[in-house]
Amino acid sequence: MDQNAPDAYTVRAAIALAVRAPSVHNSQPWDWRFSGRTVELRADTDRRLRQADPEGRDLLISCGCVLHHFTIAAAALGWATHIDRMPESAVLARIELVPRDPREEDIALATAIPRRRSDRRRYATRPLTAWEENRLARSATDHRAMLRFVDDAPRRAALTAAAVEARGLHRADPDYGIELASWSGRRYATDGVPARNAVLTTAASLGRDFSDAVLTDTEAQDGAALTVLSTADDTPLDRLRAGEAASAVVLTATRLNLASCLVTEPLELTCTRGLIRDCVVAERAEPQLVVRIGHLPDGTPPLPATPRRPIAEVLRPLGHYGIGLPIPVQQHES
Ligand SMILES: Cc1cc2nc3c(=O)[nH]c(=O)nc-3n(C[C@H](O)[C@H](O)[C@H](O)COP(=O)(O)O)c2cc1C
Repeated sequence: MDQNAPDAYTVRAAIALAVRAPSVHNSQPWDWRFSGRTVELRADTDRRLRQADPEGRDLLISCGCVLHHFTIAAAALGWATHIDRMPESAVLARIELVPRDPREEDIALATAIPRRRSDRRRYATRPLTAWEENRLARSATDHRAMLRFVDDAPRRAALTAAAVEARGLHRADPDYGIELASWSGRRYATDGVPARNAVLTTAASLGRDFSDAVLTDTEAQDGAALTVLSTADDTPLDRLRAGEAASAVVLTATRLNLASCLVTEPLELTCTRGLIRDCVVAERAEPQLVVRIGHLPDGTPPLPATPRRPIAEVLRPLGHYGIGLPIPVQQHES
């Protein structure tokens, strides 16, 4: 046995924390394998949203989020990660675990993981400080992405208009509606968006029309800082990295006691994506996600955590193929 390899309990603990990562519609489209000090991340393409995400962009971003969550969880447990991204077509990341004492920053970010929520409610009209904005922007740059704050009125209006337009176009698409209804309004499932975490959309909100939303907004006006996270290009690797950066941004926000929510609906359609690229980002960069960040109004109760699939469904020994099949058990002769 390799003395410098983590035991199965450590890998399992790191994955259990990693899968708290955000994913589109809480679809959790990932598949983890491990052996010795090697852990591999693959996409579970059966979980791609055929209507909302025909290109698989949101799927790759979601996998990037879980990859970054894993590196933070492993670091806090005493394992540095050396990542080979997309080493072969079926593997999104091959990760070597190397022992390393946890750093204060790793522990601080890891403790943010179970506290983070996608909070779709309206935020208070209390601006972020320049220091907070810098910290958030830096967390994206550390992962080769850019986080732009959309703070002037015309660009904010253009971003809101794109989101409203995308929601309208999606409302008129019955196939999209059927898919969204099948992934939301849930009560007991281990995936999908629970009704208790969804907010009833209003005319000017950036949100998606999740089914059976039970939350209603208390604030008249949304005071969220609106940001767009972009990458230099739009290759599959850029999308994976966008997810890693998005994860770093929302965990940093949680660490700073700020609420956050990732939004991609207006980036799922070519026309509204173009609007955001030309009128909001307005530089040579590819918009990947919108991130709302801000303070919750005083006294707002925290949201319940969304559910996750059991670890046995998403973590298997390396060399085991066939999603959904049980882990083979060694037969001993008596
Ligand atoms: C790629 C991606 C796209 C997302 N798009 C949206 C969106 O358009 N609207 C929204 O309300 N939430 C969006 N989310 C947030 C997910 O719905 C959320 O992460 C998931 O339901 C799990 O809940 P949690 O983040 O509170 O753990 C997105 C998340 C990811 C990673």
